[in-house]
Amino acid sequence: MYKTLFNLVFRKMDPEKAHHLAFFWIRLIASVPGLRSLVRLVLAPRDRALRTTALGLDLPGPFGLAAGFDKDGLGIDGLAMLGFDYVEIGTVTGEPQPGNPQPRLFRLVEDRALINRMGFNNQGSARVAARLAARPHTTSTPVLGVNIGKTKVVEEADAIADYVKSTERLAKHADYLVVNVSSPNTPGLRNLQAVSHLGPLLHEVRKAADRSTPHHVPLLVKIAPDLADEDVDAVADLALELGLDGIIATNTTIGREGLTAPAAQVEAIGMGGLSGAPLRERSLEVLRRLRARTEGRLTLVSVGGIETAEDAWQRITAGADLVQGYSAFIYEGPFWMRRMHRGLSARLRAAGFRTLAEAVGSAKTA
Ligand SMILES: Cc1cc2nc3c(=O)[nH]c(=O)nc-3n(C[C@H](O)[C@H](O)[C@H](O)COP(=O)(O)O)c2cc1C
Repeated sequence: MYKTLFNLVFRKMDPEKAHHLAFFWIRLIASVPGLRSLVRLVLAPRDRALRTTALGLDLPGPFGLAAGFDKDGLGIDGLAMLGFDYVEIGTVTGEPQPGNPQPRLFRLVEDRALINRMGFNNQGSARVAARLAARPHTTSTPVLGVNIGKTKVVEEADAIADYVKSTERLAKHADYLVVNVSSPNTPGLRNLQAVSHLGPLLHEVRKAADRSTPHHVPLLVKIAPDLADEDVDAVADLALELGLDGIIATNTTIGREGLTAPAAQVEAIGMGGLSGAPLRERSLEVLRRLRARTEGRLTLVSVGGIETAEDAWQRITAGADLVQGYSAFIYEGPFWMRRMHRGLSARLRAAGFRTLAEAVGSAKTA
């Protein structure tokens, strides 16, 4: 049904307009309490075996919505209603900003991929913090990740202060916090992945989070798939040294490998980060590298090209404690999480595991 809707309606629309339309409907349905519970009942995971604990948080399953879909925290409950086990909002920056000029989001339907150069369009950390503070907390409130990044106009030299400002505002509302240094659409941002920059940045963000709330808010860093293998290792070592809670791998790639779309079409789209199926192999490779380097001492969140339950299972058995996705949601629609959870349950049982935790990293010994 969604495939028909996608082909007849969304595919013909500008991708960003389609996003706003779909998100509007999700929020509208979620705003009707009885309806929200009903939809959630149908779509949310029910298999207790999928329950997991990661980052000290209890989750109904391992699958979250990746950052970028809900930049301003406008529809958290609506997204949880669709069955996501946790929702990561953002990227939120210190100051509000409009992002890049449109068009800035493109579909490569045959490749089940997207290219975006959104440029962190968001309402800024003060407004998002006020919105989160006003949210009622109920038993169905999903685990919430908050992803923060640098305001475009802020100089690289002042980046730490910008992240600290957002941390002070947002940490108290977050179940976990992510320092995003890997989006390709903010000039210079990815330079912050160099250990010499990343160390002081993460250290100051950690201090700011600890200052702003008495709870320990887990802190993770999100990295790019385009890092050289040695740099992936260096970030892993740094994360261990700093006592970070985890790593999210990966963001979108600036590469254009593995596409079937005509080169002229891809070229006409221009700059931006590529996500979806073409990212699968590299994202898995980065995960395996991180797992080998950290040996279960950090929480690893794998994202990039996960479309099917088999993809998610492969990440979990390769060592991912949690997984996330974005692009496949666009192509698969509202029943995606239901299918993913069912597929994961089936694989868990077929492999003879009683809990998801038993499956994490099991591939190397299997
Ligand atoms: C339109 C779009 C916007 C995104 N915005 C953000 C963002 O603001 N912050 C971030 O950390 N990642 C962002 N991402 C990256 C995703 O969170 C994810 O890491 C990436 O898309 C790979 O996962 P996927 O292949 O399942 O889409 C964005 C991705 C897309 C497609």
